[in-house]
Amino acid sequence: MTLSRAAAIHMVAPDTSSTPPGIAHGDPATIAEISAGLLAPHASTSPKYFYDSLGSHLFEAICELPEYYPTRTEAGIFARHGAAMARCVGPAAILIDLGAGNCAKAASLFPLLQPRQYVPVDISSDFLQQAVGQLRQRFPAIDITPLVIDLSQPLLIPASVPRAHRQFFYPGSSIGNFTPHEAVAFLRQVRENVGADGGLLIGVDLVKDPAVLDAAYDDAIGVTAAFNLNLLRHLNHLAGANFDPLQWRHVAFFNDAESRIEMHLEARCALTVQWAGGERSFALGERIHTENSYKYTVESFSRLLADAGFRVDGIWTDDARWFAVMHAAAAYA
Ligand code: AVI
Repeated sequence: MTLSRAAAIHMVAPDTSSTPPGIAHGDPATIAEISAGLLAPHASTSPKYFYDSLGSHLFEAICELPEYYPTRTEAGIFARHGAAMARCVGPAAILIDLGAGNCAKAASLFPLLQPRQYVPVDISSDFLQQAVGQLRQRFPAIDITPLVIDLSQPLLIPASVPRAHRQFFYPGSSIGNFTPHEAVAFLRQVRENVGADGGLLIGVDLVKDPAVLDAAYDDAIGVTAAFNLNLLRHLNHLAGANFDPLQWRHVAFFNDAESRIEMHLEARCALTVQWAGGERSFALGERIHTENSYKYTVESFSRLLADAGFRVDGIWTDDARWFAVMHAAAAYA
């Protein structure tokens, strides 16, 4: 899945549509990107298309599932080691939360990190808008500056966010949704946006028993399947496509050789799909690759951070070593 297009940054404004303004309905560049993925020999789509309003809510529901361990495991690490993290992070005047979602993870750390300014960044505008409204009531002393940014595009933090004491926060192992090559490129951009006194606090999902991984991405009651299938509704909206979700099924498995969970949508019958300016026939069993979720070791992820210009100065894990939270500082001024 290639990720290239001009940057899209918006201050948050109320939005009543189901599509975030970072990804506009009928936008020619969006349609061209979707079309290129669907027409590739192995059809694929970017995972960013999961997150319309319903997709964001379905992801929240995934985080509640007993099978989906990352959210609660990471929360346990924050609860147990938050004070040590705060000492390592130092005075985090500006906390920039990448992929903030409902902002709950960062908010749980406010009492320890005590940021002066909080900058939640997300692709889903209406979702962010709701979360920020509640946060401003709970934390009136913190200056909250939401930004709608598509993180698959060049990362440009506007000059209105001071450069000194920037601490980036990237929890949830969202870094796993990039390929390792893309992850280094993304982390380099974060590094370029961090001053000499800043850093990055990041959550990383670790390699573990494949049965645990498979269950986390193919839960018993089908919430992850609904999350995956909802992508088709979103593509219908964005690109005027005529996908029928009933003709597709959710497939997820751990690919050991690539150290990643793969999610696909598999055609239940031979079918043809049309969208604005394009058409493709799928054979029974043919798949659209919708997401990768890479799993790392502490060592392999430390190498990735080093390649991006960071120096790891804090590592915290749960007892089973299923998940790690790492802090990295700028490796050079
Ligand atoms: C957002 N991201 C870290 C999730 C993950 O685990 O890769 C997305 C997800 N896909 C299916 N379940 C959760």
